[in-house]
Amino acid sequence: MRIDSPRVLAALADLGVEHRPGVSLAELTSLGIGGTTDLLRTGQYQHLPALLRLLREEGIEHRFLGGGTNVLIGDGELGWVALQLAPRGEGQDVRIEGASVWVDASADLGRTVTTCARRNLGGMEGLIGVPGSVGGALRMNAGAYGTEIGRFVREVEVYRASRGENEMARCADISFEYRHTSFAPGDIMLRARLELPERPYEEIVAGIRVCNEKRRASQPLNQKSAGCIFKNPPGGSAGRMIDGLGLKGFRRGDAMVSDRHANFFINAGHATCAEMLALIAEVRARVRAAHGCELEEEVIVWSA
Ligand code: EPU
Repeated sequence: MRIDSPRVLAALADLGVEHRPGVSLAELTSLGIGGTTDLLRTGQYQHLPALLRLLREEGIEHRFLGGGTNVLIGDGELGWVALQLAPRGEGQDVRIEGASVWVDASADLGRTVTTCARRNLGGMEGLIGVPGSVGGALRMNAGAYGTEIGRFVREVEVYRASRGENEMARCADISFEYRHTSFAPGDIMLRARLELPERPYEEIVAGIRVCNEKRRASQPLNQKSAGCIFKNPPGGSAGRMIDGLGLKGFRRGDAMVSDRHANFFINAGHATCAEMLALIAEVRARVRAAHGCELEEEVIVWSA
């Protein structure tokens, strides 16, 4: 979607919003899939409510893009604009006070884990290799190797779509479940306060190393993916089921089931969203036929 009205462009500039026309979202996602649209970036959280009001009044649909590591975006010219928080940059997006860590949603999750480790704050070692932003991790309650980020969250500053305002949500008012939280689809994570246990740096680094090794041994880290495509069904493993059906290497065009981990679907060349969706549908149908189990997507799909 192109924003070309001089009035809207002037209003965006007044709100300090950076407008990048015609951006290929394939370049902003780890899957390397996605069509073209205008990108709006802002680092001024206090202006977010006014920006979203403007978009609503002008009938401009939007999607909020975090680190782009868990999203499958449609092909071609998209019918919505993408919104992103501009990062404040390394050294400025994580603020540590005792065992409390204030972190921007736009901060890189892995870098946050290591920044905290240097101040002897641990607990999040399992999240080290989870790609993406802190905001995306908060929204999805990202987890790996027995750790979920929700466990450490004390407060989240969030733009509440229902009220059209920024507010501070306390952890007691947020439910964090397996790859799911009680945040509404239009809510936008801005900052969070985490509370982390104190641990010696060497101990944290040793834990980080173990997780990195496990991940390297089982996941296709140097290929374009969005991590696991499906959630694990209760008590089961999507990867094991897909693997058991002999589907590693199975493809639709350039969308392919990883031959390393069967719940990672990779872009093996120039995959389109349509190819990835066809692969997802086919694998889901085969798992349903073999196990009577309906796999639910873990990746967020914006195909419309
Ligand atoms: N397995 C196979 N074949 C495969 C893949 C896995 O047989 O191709 C088997 C493994 O041998 C193991 C079991 O399935 O016995 C579970 O596999 P794994 O330990 O790799 O964990 P997972 O359940 O597939 C989950 C998360 C990952 C996270 C890892 C490590 C989900 C959907 N996936 O994977 O998260 O990194 O545990 O904790 O919850 C993600 O969220 O995108 C993600 C990759």
